[in-house]
This record gives sequence, structure tokens and C-alpha cells, in this order.
Amino acid sequence: MSSNRVYIFDTTLRDGEQVPGCKLNTEEKLMIASRLDKLGVDVIEAGFPVSSPGDFQSVEAIAKLVKNATVCGLTRAVENDIKVAAEALTFAKRPRIHTGIGTSESHMKYKFKATPEQIIERAVAAVKYAKSFLEDVEFYAEDAGRSDNEFLARVCEAVIKAGATVLNIPDTTGYCLPEEYGQKIKYLKENVTGIHNAILSCHCHNDLGLATANSIAGVMNGARQVECTINGIGERAGNTSLEEVAMILKQHPYLDLNTNINSTMLTEISQLVSDTMGMPVQPNKAIVGTNAFAHSSGIHQDGVIKHRETYEIMDPKDVGAETSSIVLTARSGRAALAYRAKNVGYDLTKRELDTIYSDFLHFADKHKEVTDTDIHQIIKMSEVSRRMYA
Ligand code: KIV
Ligand code: ZN
Repeated sequence: MSSNRVYIFDTTLRDGEQVPGCKLNTEEKLMIASRLDKLGVDVIEAGFPVSSPGDFQSVEAIAKLVKNATVCGLTRAVENDIKVAAEALTFAKRPRIHTGIGTSESHMKYKFKATPEQIIERAVAAVKYAKSFLEDVEFYAEDAGRSDNEFLARVCEAVIKAGATVLNIPDTTGYCLPEEYGQKIKYLKENVTGIHNAILSCHCHNDLGLATANSIAGVMNGARQVECTINGIGERAGNTSLEEVAMILKQHPYLDLNTNINSTMLTEISQLVSDTMGMPVQPNKAIVGTNAFAHSSGIHQDGVIKHRETYEIMDPKDVGAETSSIVLTARSGRAALAYRAKNVGYDLTKRELDTIYSDFLHFADKHKEVTDTDIHQIIKMSEVSRRMYA
């Protein structure tokens, strides 16, 4: 496999489903898992099998269904969690256990009440136990974002020796700055013996709105897996958004980093996740928001009508969105009005446009948006139409 390949680990059905009110039933999870597999994700984190009988059942059903992607189950560094996850993954073509423990001072002291040495012992024991069930074991160092880099490197080295093949470095609290997170990945690449036998993975939360930026900094410094969710949903402010990572790497080819994502499915899968979870996508959401390709100011509209690329850095078709849209508001100019009027059958001369434009502005000042029906109405009521049909 090329070292330029960035693996996409989707955790919509695990971290994403932790969002209050977003609980899915098994049937809904199967529907999403099947689309994720078609989308081309490399890993589907299907759930946390020990957490409830329902989650166990869903992970088992997804493991049976998925054809291409690796199916992964989350565990704590606890024997019973690992045993139950292995059981839920029995029928997976490519099963993975994702186990781990907190490595920051605050997690070690308050959550685990354990010394750093005890944390390493528990991490190693968990990985070895997981390896007794299957080959593919990923280790997460929870709160790695706030963990001491030297200690983190010791943990990574120990779990690689125990058999972990993927090392997840989560910025669990979304605290890191991109440069800091990138340097953390670089430090691990340069200071962990045996790191060439493992893949470093970014798992970034969005508490300060930096999840995607941090993940990109991670891959630019040597990580080769990104953990992300559709629409960026997830615990608190969410996770790194899958569609953002896929399109950033696609639109910046000089980075020479690629994924297996079929970007034309992004809009469709975003809507599926939003509908099944009852979690609306904010209109200005990058890539998949309803306004992502909508132009409403006169200056921008004039540019886009002349040449789409003046104000668009990607083709809406590349993400499965129908087309760019020219939204008519009181900020729109003559070019936008002429363009939209032509779309509904009026090829206006310059003089006709001048007359209708002032009627349009009066109307638009009183309304949020001017629709196709409104255009017909404005033209019908205008001086122009009296002349057109006199
Ligand atoms: O944010 C986090 O640290 C996690 C781990 C359980 C991987 O979700
Ligand atoms: Zn997380």
C-alpha cells in the first residue's frame, strides 16, 4: 500500500451516535453502514459492544453485512469488554478491536487513580488480551492531546511491542492547536521505536472548532489514518468531519495524500445520517450544508455567472450536490436577476431589466428570498409586461 494513502476510519455509529437524541436502532445502523461501505471508508467503528445488548446486536449485524471495510468495536482496557467485542465481531470479514486507556495526568490521577507505570501495564495487558482473539488491534491513548509527549511515546512503544498495529492519538477534549497536534504526531514518528510497524491515527474533537485542522496537521506530519464522522457529529461539539477531510485532501493534490472516498456520495450520505438521527445539518456547513454552493451577494453572483470558479473552489457535482445556486435577495444585482429570469423563460433586454430591477428590489426588501414564482409575479405586475403584452 502506498505511504500516501490516508485511511478513513468512520466513527459515525460509535462516537457520532453518542450525541444526545441521536440513538439509532439496528436497522438504521445497517442502512448507514452499508452506505459507508459503498462510500469507500476503510474502517467502520460499529459501536461499543459491551455497553448494551442492543449495541452488541448492532455490531454483530454490521459485522455480518459489511463487505469491504474493516469492522471495529470499541472497548476499555478491560478484559470483559475485549472478550465481548471479539464475540460481536466473530462474523466480520476484517475485524478490529479498538482498546485503550487515558494517558494524560488528569485521566491517570482522577479517572484511573493509577501511576503512569500502572497505566502502561494495563495498556499492554489489554493489547495482548485483544491479540489473543484477533490480529488487528488498535490502541487509543485517551486524552493524548493533553498528555506529555515523552510519556505518550513510552506508551506507544510498549503497545506496539504488545502487538498494536494502529495507534490512535485522540485530542479527546479538542484542546490542541493544529501546530501542537502536528508536532505531537511528528514527535511520536521520530521517537517511538518500532513506529514503522504501526499506523498513527488522528481522532480530534471539535470543542474549539479545530478538529479538521488538527487532523490535517496530523496527516501532514505522518499520521495515516483519520477518525471522523459524517457531518462532524459526535460527543459535545463533535468530531472531525469526514466530508471535510476527504475534500481537503482531494482539492489539495500537491499534498499527495489520498483516500478511497467516492466524494460524489457525500451529499447523499450526509442527508441519510441527518434524517435517521434527526440531527439537522447547519446550512453553512462546509461541503454538505444547503448554502455550501449558494451565492447571494451581487458581486459574487456576477462572478459565478461569468465563470463558476471565480467563487467556487470545488465543483458541486464532485460532492454529489446538484448545482451551484444563485439565490435572489435584496443584495443581488442585475446579472443574477437576468440569469434567474432567463431560467424561467424571460430573455430580458437591458431596458426591460432596468425597469424590472427596481420593482425586484422593492419586493426583495420586504422578503428574505425571491423565488421563481415571485419572479413571474414581479414581471407580470411590472411596466415591462404591460409593454411586452400591449
Ligand atoms: O475521544 C476519544 O478519546 C475517544 C476514544 C474512546 C477513542 O473517542
Ligand atoms: Zn472521541
